[in-house]
Amino acid sequence: MSSLRTVTLGLAGFGTVGGGLVQLLQENRKELEARSGCSFVLKTVVVRDPSRARSVQLPPQTRLTTSLSEITDDPEIDIAIELMGGIEPARSFIQSALEHGKHVVTANKALLAEAGRGLFALAGRSGLRLLYEASVAGGIPVIQVLKDSLAGNAIHSIEGILNGTSNFILSEMSSKGADFSTALGEAQEKGYAEADPTLDIDGFDTAHKLVLLIRLAFGVEYPFARMPIQGIRGLDSMDIEYAREFGYRVKLLGQARMTEQGLEAGVYPVLVRHTYLLARVGGAYNAVRIEGNAVGSLFLHGLGAGALPTASAVLGDIVAAARGTTPFNSGFIEQVLPEANILPEDMPVSPYYVRFMVKDQPGVLHILTGVLASHGISIAQAFQRGARTSGVPLVLMLHEGRVSDVQAALKEISTMDFLCAPIVAYRVLD
Ligand code: NAP
Ligand code: HSE
Repeated sequence: MSSLRTVTLGLAGFGTVGGGLVQLLQENRKELEARSGCSFVLKTVVVRDPSRARSVQLPPQTRLTTSLSEITDDPEIDIAIELMGGIEPARSFIQSALEHGKHVVTANKALLAEAGRGLFALAGRSGLRLLYEASVAGGIPVIQVLKDSLAGNAIHSIEGILNGTSNFILSEMSSKGADFSTALGEAQEKGYAEADPTLDIDGFDTAHKLVLLIRLAFGVEYPFARMPIQGIRGLDSMDIEYAREFGYRVKLLGQARMTEQGLEAGVYPVLVRHTYLLARVGGAYNAVRIEGNAVGSLFLHGLGAGALPTASAVLGDIVAAARGTTPFNSGFIEQVLPEANILPEDMPVSPYYVRFMVKDQPGVLHILTGVLASHGISIAQAFQRGARTSGVPLVLMLHEGRVSDVQAALKEISTMDFLCAPIVAYRVLD
């Protein structure tokens, strides 16, 4: 092989993903050298607690420290890798690394979704790469696909299973009858979950990733605070079972669609028809479906969380930064993108699954259908289960209607005295 160029790395964060990266830098050294013409030297690793036992050994020449400035201020380091997570000190670390002329690779979707604008602007002004393939859908190269491979398309829509932890929990509940907290514990053990797993189960992690995909697909900033978000906390296995009986699987989806009136986006548990590819994505797998005006429908599938799949994406970025091509970090020439024109809340339409826990008494169905009809909502299917006990589940599949009409009807019904529990309602992908 012709002579290799040395590229020096500084890594902040040596947990699940950082450990996977250190492992792959050693295991896949030959492949990396052959693909990039570079020899990667990991000079410095920063952690919170250097005394903690690690499952992966650092190379002998690597220095373990708690000081982030030993990376940012070191002129020998070419690429700073941020795998700590959270907003601070990750944001200041990336900013300082860019100010010191280093390319940056990160997996931090929370940071880039909530505070990415300034960092992209800084990287753009400085002609540096700020790469984040690992931040969305783990090992799936969706960012590269949107930025480069689909650059010749107007993107119409993106929808995906973007959180491995939630999908793992839903799969365990659906296929093994596992309860929610046992499945979450297992996802944490396997290294899928965020340090704060509420980000996973309450839908915020999916929303962070969706904001990044929206930026890449549509060239606009979607303010994170405006994203409608509903997670899977409190999802009842009864609804997973009933959904299955109707021919659907429950999935936590991030969805974004460009309409003539504006951009419609949100994160919700959705009943997905069982024949759809998205319905078949199980365990910690993620999938993204992209609809472009030239490519048509594209489906990407792969492991969305875990040490090695995520480190695979981090390494891809490290090689891209080492190869040194022009930085198009946001996927557009403009590094500071305009704000999205968000579709008014009463515009979106969707079919719905709704479960009412009701007293088993005459006239209930009549009242429910009456209220729904008064809001222009039509029923596709219905069933009632169970004996005359304290409450019976009455399940309705609603035809497509305006989300605002469904919400108004359910609000009206929610005060009625035949209800024994709060109403459960999920959108349907049909
Ligand atoms: P993790 O296992 O919790 O590891 C975090 C690492 O960062 C630890 O080594 C920790 O040090 C270090 N750290 C945290 N705060 C620090 C600080 N203030 N100063 C110095 N070091 C600090 O996290 P992870 O799962 O690897 O996730 C890392 C990033 O990758 C996050 O942004 C996450 O969202 C993203 N990500 C994770 C996955 C996944 O499957 N896990 C997938 C895609 C993206 P100690 O070891 O001393 O505690
Ligand atoms: N906690 C995230 C997940 C890691 O479960 O998908 C990957 O971003």
